Parts: sequence; structure tokens; C-alpha cells
Amino acid sequence: MHMEFRVKRAPRIDAEITVPGDKSISHRAVIIAALSNGVCVIRGFLPSEDCLRTVQALRGLGIRIEQPEAEMLVVHGKKRLLTPPPGEIDCGNSATTMRLLAGLLVGQPFDSRLVGDTTLSKRPMEQVITPLRQMGANIVAEGPNDSLPLRITGSKLHGIEYHSPVASAQLKSALMLAGLFAKGKTTVHEPSPSRNHTELMLNYFLVRTAKEEDGGISVFGDQVPESRDFTVPGDISSAAFWLVAAGAQPGGHLLVRDAGLNDTRTGLLGVLIRMGAQVREAIEDVDQIEPRGIVEITGAPLKGTVIQGKEIPQLIDELPILAVAGALASGTTTIRHAQELRMKETDRIAAIAHNLRSMGAQVIELNDGLEIHGRGSLRGARVPSFGDHRIAMAFAVAGLFADGETVVQDAQCVQESYPGFGKALDDIMNPKRVRMTTPVISSLSPARADEIG
Ligand code: S3P
Repeated sequence: MHMEFRVKRAPRIDAEITVPGDKSISHRAVIIAALSNGVCVIRGFLPSEDCLRTVQALRGLGIRIEQPEAEMLVVHGKKRLLTPPPGEIDCGNSATTMRLLAGLLVGQPFDSRLVGDTTLSKRPMEQVITPLRQMGANIVAEGPNDSLPLRITGSKLHGIEYHSPVASAQLKSALMLAGLFAKGKTTVHEPSPSRNHTELMLNYFLVRTAKEEDGGISVFGDQVPESRDFTVPGDISSAAFWLVAAGAQPGGHLLVRDAGLNDTRTGLLGVLIRMGAQVREAIEDVDQIEPRGIVEITGAPLKGTVIQGKEIPQLIDELPILAVAGALASGTTTIRHAQELRMKETDRIAAIAHNLRSMGAQVIELNDGLEIHGRGSLRGARVPSFGDHRIAMAFAVAGLFADGETVVQDAQCVQESYPGFGKALDDIMNPKRVRMTTPVISSLSPARADEIG
């Protein structure tokens, strides 16, 4: 089925919303629960295509997982005991499933083979294969340029100390999961911190990790996660689309409740503040290790900014929507050091440049980013999604600011991370159905107060 979004200019946004569960955290919760020593109930799980690939794969590895409600899983952990899969494990379009499972499977006493759809099959796996081999893994990429399928022959692993050339949470997580099944200690150092959900989730399940002086993270082998229930917070990367929609609209106002506020994920908020929006966040709960709370934004005429360096891993998935914000801002917005974007679901640098130009923006494509000369307005156009969920959603939001109609083609890919996006978009365009709000947060959290200065 080929779905498309037809978008017209948004009326004034004044809304209160929640967003579905965090994708990265949903994958980790179900994997670590599956390794635990008992029954774990996971609430707020994101029932998206990507996360369901991980569930399906774990079922194939002998783990009983019930889904009594769309967003609730009951995972019957088997004390790290996995059984040989009946056939190939299909990761669909999910790179997180692929890389995390590669880490999990290399140390098992059985063989496995991981495959994916045509897009995932083009993505390079060398970054994860190289360090796993150093741990003693027997893993072969059968496709050209270290691409899928991955053939794994189960081996005995030993811990290593790895200095990763890239800040990648998928890579770090693959090594940590392999490290759980390795002899001794496995340490990953990164050039700058990537999202830390795996280490937090391991700690929540009472697995011992250690933070090294340079920020590196270590895990010790042979530990069994202690079964516990967990509630996944809302995905800040999904909230990002609506935060930009309200933030780029002078007088726009949006309140997001129950959002994940892990500071390795909230780089977007600092950027929106620099661009001129008023942003407040309040952490309401850290009981389950992952901070969660409220984000509120009041829109303003945005101005251009520079996004680069250590900030990039903290907002890597938000760059498509931030590029749209840049096109709506006055002045120039520059994105640098984001070459990893070329290896996502599509080459996101090329896709953003193509679609922004179709909508009338002036964009220069750089090797590692983009230079966007904002004009304050866009014109409606037919734009492809390139099969990439975040491109589809970013350009649906761009359409809310464009003259005339914008059509985002092949929009079914939003199912990978945000199945309810189309409905939320309708609600924004037809505000009668959105709950109106008045500002509720009166104090700034210290981190953001600093940035506002
Ligand atoms: C993810 C890590 C990021 C991100 C992806 C999800 C994760 O990728 O882009 O959407 O869940 O670990 P990298 O690890 O390649 O940076």
C-alpha cells in the first residue's frame, strides 16, 4: 500500500500531546528482559515495525513474549539461555535490531544468520564487525562492502578495550551485549558520548557496569539481569517533529507530557533555544533510571544557528527536522560533522537537500552536513520520503509552513518509528480535536536555564 501525506498550512498550534514509547529504549528493554531471570512486564513499549522485529527475533531465539496490549509486553526471561533460531533472522529495516542482535549472537553456542530488507542490506556493518572480531567473534558479512547478510558462527569471546572511531550507540550497545557473554571486562571508549540507554537499562536490571575516567563504559561478563518491570518513556525524537512545528510558529505553543528527557537525547532543545524559541523542561520521574517529564515550547521567529561537534550524537535523529527549522529561520543554519547521516535509512544529507530545494529553500550540500539559507517561508511541493521515516515526517512538518499543498510520497515508512504520526498530523491541521492548554511549567530546569543564560 502506498500511503502519502497531504499537508496544508497549519493553523495556530496550541496543544498538549503525548508521543509513543521511545524506539531505542523499547529495543533495549525487551532484549535485556529476555536475558533476565524471570518475568518482566514492559509498558509503554513502541509497537512499531522496527521494535516488533526485535520481539520477533527474540521469540525465534526461544523467548516467550506475550503482547496483551499493543504497548505492553510480558517477557519471560530465561536466565540468558537462548536456543538456536529455526531459520534466518529477518531484521527488516531495523539497523538497531541488526546491530544489537549481532552483538548478542556472536557469543552464543549456536550459529545464526541475520538478513534485512533491501535498504538495510545496503548499510555497512564493518563498524560493528571489526571490534566483535577482536573479541573472538566469527562473523562474516556476505554482501558487498561488508553488508548483509551476516553469518555468525557462535564462539567463545573475551573482553577487549575498544577505542571507537565513531560515537555510535548501536556499535557501543552491540559490544556491551557481546561483553555480557565474554570472559572478563569489555570497555568501549567513544570520541564523544552517544545515547546511553544500554548502560542505563543494564544498571536498571542490576547488571554491573563501570564508567571509565574518559567517559568510556565497561561491562563485566557472566552476569544475569535481574527481572524487573519497566515503563518506556515517550520518544523525544518523535516529539521533535511537533516541537519544531510549534517552535517555528510565532505564538505557537505545545506541551509534551511524559517524554524521555535523557540528556544524551535532548540536544534538540538546546538548539531550539539558540534559534529563539522558548523551551522549558521539567523532569518529573527518574525512578526507572530513564528521566521522563514535560517539555513545553513557545514559538518565535527563528534565527539560524550552527549545529556541530559533540552536539551531533545527541540529536543525530533530529537533524532532518532541524534542517527544516533552519529553512524556516532567518539567516544561515549550518550542520557539520554529521557524515553518519549519509548512512542512515537513506543518505539523509542528500535527501534533505533535495526536498528543501523542491520547496524553494537555498541549500548547499557539504560532505558532512548542510548549509541552509533560510527565507522564512517554503512553497508546497511533491516530495519523496526516500523510504525514510524521519524524512517523511520532517517534510510533512515542512508542509505545515508552506504555501499551497505539500504531498509526501511513500509515507508508510513512518510505521518504523511512529505509527500514529498521520493521526497526530491531522489533529495539528484540525485543531478542534487537540486539547488546548495553558502554560504549566513555571520553573526552568537548571541545565536549560544555563543555556538560556
Ligand atoms: C540508535 C542509535 C543511532 C540512531 C538510531 C538509533 C540506537 O544510530 O541514529 O536511530 O538505538 O542505538 P547510531 O548508533 O548509528 O548513531
